Amino acid sequence: MKILLLHGPNLNLLGTREPEVYGSMTLDDINKKMIALGAELGVEVKCLQSNHEGALIDALHDARTWAAGVVFNPGGYTHTSVALRDAISAIVIPVIEVHLSNVYAREEFRHKSLMSAVCKGKVTGFGWRSYELGLRGLIDIIGA
Ligand code: DQA
Repeated sequence: MKILLLHGPNLNLLGTREPEVYGSMTLDDINKKMIALGAELGVEVKCLQSNHEGALIDALHDARTWAAGVVFNPGGYTHTSVALRDAISAIVIPVIEVHLSNVYAREEFRHKSLMSAVCKGKVTGFGWRSYELGLRGLIDIIGA
C-alpha cells in the first residue's frame, strides 16, 4: 500500500522559513521521518512538494491511480484555492489536511480553509508531528 505525502508552496523552505512558527526541521527531515514511520506501519510513503497550484492538482489526480490516500499540507493555497478543493473532491481516495502551525491562533485569513470540508480529517498546530498524526490517522482509516 502506498500513500502520497504532498506539500504545497513555500514548504520547501522549512528549516529557515519563520522557524518560530514552523519549527527548525527541514522538509527533507520531515519526509525522511514519514517514510520511516510508513515503513514501520507497512506503508510506502512517496513525497512531493510544489510551489505551483497546477502541479499540485496533477499530483492529486495522479495519486488516485496508485495511492490509497494523501496527507496534504496545501500551505497558503489552503485559504484561496477552489481548484485544489475541487481536485480533492474529484478523487475518491481519502485526503488528510495537515498544518504545522495552529492556523486558528494566527491571522483571521488563515482561519478559513477551502479544503477542510472535502478532506477526511484535519491536523493543525503540532509542528512536524501534525504530519505524523495525519499519517497515522490516514493509515488507520484505510485499514492498512
Ligand atoms: C501552513 C499554514 C498556512 O496558513 C501557511 O500559508 C503555510 C503553512 C502550515 O503548515 O502551518 O504555508 O499550511
